[in-house]
Amino acid sequence: MSLTDRIGQLREFFIQELSQSGTAKDLESLKIKYFGKKGSIQALMLELKSCTKDERPVLGKMINDLKVELTSHCENSLARVKGEELNKRLLKEVIDPTLPGRRQSLGRKHPIMQILDRAIDILISMGFSVKLGPNADTDYYNFEGLNFPPDHPARDMQDTFYLSGDWLLRTHTSNVQVHAMEEIEPPIRVIAPGRCFRNETISARSHVFFHQIEGFYIDRNVSFADLFATMEEFWSKLLGEKVETRFRPSYFPFVEPGLEVDLRCTSCRGKGCRLCKQTGWLEVCGAGMIHPNVLKKCKIDPDEYSGYAWGMGIERLAILQHAIPDIRMFTQNDARFLSQFA
Ligand code: PHE
Repeated sequence: MSLTDRIGQLREFFIQELSQSGTAKDLESLKIKYFGKKGSIQALMLELKSCTKDERPVLGKMINDLKVELTSHCENSLARVKGEELNKRLLKEVIDPTLPGRRQSLGRKHPIMQILDRAIDILISMGFSVKLGPNADTDYYNFEGLNFPPDHPARDMQDTFYLSGDWLLRTHTSNVQVHAMEEIEPPIRVIAPGRCFRNETISARSHVFFHQIEGFYIDRNVSFADLFATMEEFWSKLLGEKVETRFRPSYFPFVEPGLEVDLRCTSCRGKGCRLCKQTGWLEVCGAGMIHPNVLKKCKIDPDEYSGYAWGMGIERLAILQHAIPDIRMFTQNDARFLSQFA
């Protein structure tokens, strides 16, 4: 068969194969088979070598024209098929705007932060301003400045996490009293919310860290009556009703006299129940009149100024308010527990 005939035959083969190539994949293989380096067109080109000098340009042009023609056929089909394939895929992928969306679960404020924030709001409305103190502090601010003499047994009341040198994790928010008195001239009316740390065995009732709000007021003529009134107003606002308070003598080195404050049980209203261990009262915070030694250490004249202070545990408040059986639940991050405090 002459080369001219073979060129014609190749066109026919190609057209036939093209008509049978239904997918983009088929067409890609067809391209390689005909136009690749080892493809049929290239094979014809190689045969030009055996032609005469006169034939070569004519036949060469025929092969080239064939290549151009077939390539354009092939590309047209490829474009059409690819378009069809895309359409099919898009049809399958249609978006149904009537389907309901997937609900995102939103986080909530932790119950401790809820109570803390409410307490802070109330106290701010009563004229206090917030001052934050360091969680890691020196012995001076946590103990010595608060009239805990070195080696005094009162230090053992608070199992301390000691850091290196003079440093420790504060055992109470009372350290802010000393910082505030050093930095602010009386009158001082400050609340100090924050974390405290104690090296205790973790159990249902106690944890190695917890939150307190410290509050204190230093001015001329601050009296016990002011402490009483402030506490009563605060509890009523926080718990939403008038609650009876009871003050019991207690000992803290930085107050004199020192007190523990009880509330009429919020659950049984004093009749006696499991929550108040049948006493009718709930212990909620330590308080007292700031010790003259503390004022003196902070260069405030105790003959001119007096002040009161209290410190209350927030976990304890939350436990009382929601009848939570175990303090560890606050830190277990169980969404089933946390989601109950919307
Ligand atoms: N800081 C004391 C404690 O952690 C509480 C307290 C604060 C007592 C202020 C009296 C005055 O137990």
